[in-house]
Amino acid sequence: MDVIHAQNGNPFQTEQACMIVGLLDKPEKFSGPLQVLDQMFKGEFTNLVKSGDLSAKFKSIHTVHSLGLSPIKRFIFVGLGKEKTLTASRLREAIGKACKKIKEMQVQSFSVALDSFIHAGLSGGCVAQLFGEAFTMATYEFPGYKQKSNEPDVTIEKMSVFTNEPQQEIEKSLKTGMIYGKATNSARTLVNMPSNLLNPAYLAEYAKDMAKQLAFELEILEKAEMEKLGMGAMLAVNQGSEEPPYMIVLKYQGQEQWTDVIGLVGKGITFDTGGYSLKPKSGIVEMKTDMAGAASVLGAMEIIGELRPDQNVVAVIPATDNMVSGKAFKPDDVITSLNGKTIEILNTDAEGRLVLADAITYAKMQGAEYLVDAATLTGGVVVALGLDKTGALTNDKDLFEKVLEASQKTGEFIWRLPLTEKDKERVRSSKIADLNNSPGREGHAIMGGAFLAEFAEATPWVHLDIAGTATTKKAHELGPSGATGVMVRTLAALVCDHT
Ligand code: BES
Ligand code: ZN
Ligand code: ZN
Repeated sequence: MDVIHAQNGNPFQTEQACMIVGLLDKPEKFSGPLQVLDQMFKGEFTNLVKSGDLSAKFKSIHTVHSLGLSPIKRFIFVGLGKEKTLTASRLREAIGKACKKIKEMQVQSFSVALDSFIHAGLSGGCVAQLFGEAFTMATYEFPGYKQKSNEPDVTIEKMSVFTNEPQQEIEKSLKTGMIYGKATNSARTLVNMPSNLLNPAYLAEYAKDMAKQLAFELEILEKAEMEKLGMGAMLAVNQGSEEPPYMIVLKYQGQEQWTDVIGLVGKGITFDTGGYSLKPKSGIVEMKTDMAGAASVLGAMEIIGELRPDQNVVAVIPATDNMVSGKAFKPDDVITSLNGKTIEILNTDAEGRLVLADAITYAKMQGAEYLVDAATLTGGVVVALGLDKTGALTNDKDLFEKVLEASQKTGEFIWRLPLTEKDKERVRSSKIADLNNSPGREGHAIMGGAFLAEFAEATPWVHLDIAGTATTKKAHELGPSGATGVMVRTLAALVCDHT
């Protein structure tokens, strides 16, 4: 969409194909724009609510045609439920649902009665940002590779937002929301792409383009440099592959001095066969999505590059696939990671923690003083928390609190799992090496985190296991089935809303 346009004045006087209006469940009479509308229609909207034809039930959608009695052809009413229960996250979902309806209607432009969404708990700016974000996310579609798309090609080109709030502020917030939404969609597209097209080299090119466009410092380590540095864990995972590995590094400097650097690390396994600990045929499909952590970090960097906060950030993405061949690494191998720790391989399918180990060490070498990693690390997190909660492990309560706060703003649910001394002992229990990469299936989402903690060491670190949340089988209010772009917005909010 090219044009967003915020304007003051009566929202119901200019011609529109349709308009979105929020309907709060209030016992009193209509107020704000709804009152104006109701008066224009001589109380008919009050009657519709009374008769139950129009409901304020949370997320209910009603289309009302104005039958030529107004310059606005149709109204899309979206129920917001009771004012008291209307949090930002709930409002984002309700708006998303209304925007999906707009997309279905195949209109080129629409308008919004923004003030019908503003209520006691949320400012105009806040609602505008939610709108920009929800609209952009909800109308996303992966283009795919069909020769002929069966959907007619109508795209929404214009959104007119009517409000009594200061116009410029509203426009700015709408744009910020759209930046968040667009970056989430970029991440979704990366995750939805198949691994024959999105290989490690593609990710490296993508980062290179992004660095150019958003003025990041870029470093891409190739195999020879990894060998020189001693990235034995990253190289072991790549050993069986025909595709060269890349360690992708992006730096954004928002402060004069390169201090207080936040490191964002994202698992970039472009396809995970499991290696010699081969995945069963039912578990191998969709393993093109095993680079969702990398996509989250790239998405967050897109937002950071657009909003340019006064923070320093280094993003590190280990990109490789995990394949089988005569050259591949094997169970029982012992490898040496970048920080010198030796690792006994018990399961080549626990490859994510290996590439992340070297990426975390490298992020620290680049000056990261705080670390957050995002990774589709374990099936165990799905067993523990289901498909709608990201699992978190940490060595630092304060940093975790900040990540949690960011996630509450973005509505991306995070739940912390414990990480005890006993857990650490289990990853240190190899008889022949410092660590083993798979101490057994009991609590194995925790084991993934415990392993990474050995590389974060004293640096405050939060691990986000997105194996359950990176993709979804069902379409939802904020997007279609497939990749969700989870944690793009949370990582960005952590950096951009830092106080
Ligand atoms: N990429 C997988 C985790 C995964 C599973 C992501 C399902 C998305 C959906 C990861 O590399 C893996 O295979 N983990 C193993 C770890 C085990 C061997 C300790 C797992 O979860 O089974
Ligand atoms: Zn694996
Ligand atoms: Zn994996």
